[in-house]
Amino acid sequence: MERVKVLIIGSGGREHAIAWKVAKSPKVDKIYCAPGNAGIAEVAECVNIGAMEFDKLAAFAKENEIDLTVVGMDDPLVGGVVDVFEKEGLRVFGPRKNAAILEGSKAFSKDLMKKYNIPTAAYENFQHADEALAYLREKADFPIVLKADGLALGKGVLICNTLAEAEEGVKEIMLDKKFGSAGNTLVVEEFMTGREVSVLSFVDGKTIKTMTSAQDHKRAKDGDEGLNTGGMGTFSPSPFYTEEVDDFCEKYIYQATVDAMAAEGREFKGIIFFGLMLTEKGPKVLEYNARFGDPEAQVVIPRLKNDIVEVFEACVDGKLDEVDLQFEDNAAVCVVLASDGYPVSYEKGFPIEGLENFKDKDGYYVFHAGTALKDGRIVTNGGRVLGVTAKGADLKEARANAYKATDWIQFANKYKRNDIGKAIDEA
Ligand code: AMP
Ligand code: GLY
Repeated sequence: MERVKVLIIGSGGREHAIAWKVAKSPKVDKIYCAPGNAGIAEVAECVNIGAMEFDKLAAFAKENEIDLTVVGMDDPLVGGVVDVFEKEGLRVFGPRKNAAILEGSKAFSKDLMKKYNIPTAAYENFQHADEALAYLREKADFPIVLKADGLALGKGVLICNTLAEAEEGVKEIMLDKKFGSAGNTLVVEEFMTGREVSVLSFVDGKTIKTMTSAQDHKRAKDGDEGLNTGGMGTFSPSPFYTEEVDDFCEKYIYQATVDAMAAEGREFKGIIFFGLMLTEKGPKVLEYNARFGDPEAQVVIPRLKNDIVEVFEACVDGKLDEVDLQFEDNAAVCVVLASDGYPVSYEKGFPIEGLENFKDKDGYYVFHAGTALKDGRIVTNGGRVLGVTAKGADLKEARANAYKATDWIQFANKYKRNDIGKAIDEA
């Protein structure tokens, strides 16, 4: 068998889950990760190149004869890393810049959904603050949702209950530029209610194959209180993602999105992440991402039966129709261990104890999100530190296992939510 060298771009829990799965492929000879973290270093050689240093990354891939590069993160995708690699004749998994705009611009994605009749919340886009304010004063119902157009680390979405809050939001996003140039355009969107589900998919430009569903917990505190974070925990599958919901999304959302991108001359290859809201009027798209979710990847990838390298290659080669994508008939839960104070301010550099407890334990995983090696010890190095994941025969068992495993780890300012997967009880 021809054995391949793989480079993964990114440094979080998602990239650790990808690297862990790539390492299981019998096709793989060697894995590199740029820049990686202390956990990824157990399965890959970490390379000290930043995810936005495209020319250095491409030069590294050439020098080291990398056969396949997998881009985990949104920023390099939206910035065009795939185009740089392709120009150098390198094989790379991920959307080009003109397709990553599906995540990079919310105004673009809303206009696409409107043009192709893909169900989503009603909205208006604004380039000028005074026009947005006039609209809010004259036409809006509250609550209403304001979204900075561009990438803002998941923080550029404001749910405003009153006109005064919305006026303040327009000021923050468009005038004070709290999220930088991401706020040059503002999307004002109808507020929807319902359960949220994340569905990730592999796409080869034409064919789309969805993965098993998952649900994230974006708020920092129990009971969905506190600030929005990158995600404090996930479970998979979602019991609310029924066959009926799946049928609807197959018919009106998934293939329709891939076809719409192709029709616009923006062929999409890579991962499309559908953030869905299951409203009373049926499923609607909340947002698209152009990469695996984090920490959705930490519960979806461990349940994937296929050799992930074969699936990546099928996407790059436009042969996804030949892949029989399969997931285990079980469940997984990921509880994020964070630094107390995340997402605002927190201390880091604390030694982490207990990582060895996960060695050789089937169905238990500790994915590193923000860790580093200091004086030979693994220390905390970010807001989200670890993603403790466990499988179980069903969601309840997986949740009990994951919470049990969170006790195996100690560090000075360890913080977690205690209600990840609580919604399972209501299913
Ligand atoms: P997004 O980054 O677009 O996924 O938004 C972050 C979070 O804001 C989502 O996960 C939802 O919880 C919430 N959200 C976004 N858009 C809406 C909407 N139109 N109605 C209600 N909640 C929303
Ligand atoms: N967990 C949500 C995201 O990755 O955007």
